[in-house]
Amino acid sequence: MNAVSRTATPDPVEHALVALAGRVPSGVVIDVGGGSGTRAVPLARMGCTVLVVDSSIDALAILRRRAVDAGVADRITAIQGDAVALSRAVPAGQADLVLCHHLLETVEDPAAAVAGIAGALKPDGRASILVAGRFAAVLSQAVAGRFGDAAAILADPDGRFGPLDPLRRRFDVASLRTLLARGGLAVESMAGIGIVSGLIPGGVRPSNQLHEPRLAGLEEALSAHDELREIAADLHAVAFPAGG
Ligand SMILES: C[S@@+](CC[C@H](N)C(=O)[O-])C[C@H]1O[C@@H](n2cnc3c(N)ncnc32)[C@H](O)[C@@H]1O
Repeated sequence: MNAVSRTATPDPVEHALVALAGRVPSGVVIDVGGGSGTRAVPLARMGCTVLVVDSSIDALAILRRRAVDAGVADRITAIQGDAVALSRAVPAGQADLVLCHHLLETVEDPAAAVAGIAGALKPDGRASILVAGRFAAVLSQAVAGRFGDAAAILADPDGRFGPLDPLRRRFDVASLRTLLARGGLAVESMAGIGIVSGLIPGGVRPSNQLHEPRLAGLEEALSAHDELREIAADLHAVAFPAGG
């Protein structure tokens, strides 16, 4: 399995996942909070064996149907489970790659979820962690004229605008590093995803950006500037077991 170029896939997270999966062809992948299989199905198509652990029966049912439709049902296992008790659902130390995308913002105990991910990885395995960025939320609220919400997100230690905020927390580079370290993961790389789209009120999710090549090109150029990643809609960390 070869890593694909940016021109073949303008989605930077997919690009990173292809490279990570390519480290161990036919490797074992766990997707925690993998939902309906947006990432699991392409990884299974690449030859990985994928275990999706998600709390939602409905999402897992969609995943199973998508896996059958894609002809990879034999390489995807769907398990209902809680990310904060991952060791009950998956074997320890067996995974080459663990994905945890847009989950740490919502779980009750994110440090327990990270510890579970660290425990599931082989010593030389990698975790792909994707979370919502705090400063992008501040700026998008401000640009939309919701200055009170912007100020609240900035002031709140968890980066929330209040009790109606659908997320329990948002992250900046330092808080994500700290959480991962507490759970036993060391950061190998940290990228900002959606630097411009994070400024657009209501947000443009990375999947929508792909239909706009000029925006995707601009995002790629901006992502080369580390100083801008703090204002990205999402932060993407690649991490490894600290003791590995
Ligand atoms: C925002 S979706 C992200 C789905 C997918 N990772 C992605 O990036 O497209 C969050 C997913 O996490 C699942 N989830 C929420 N809390 C969970 C928990 N405590 N344990 C396992 N899965 C959980 C939800 O059912 C949902 O499928």
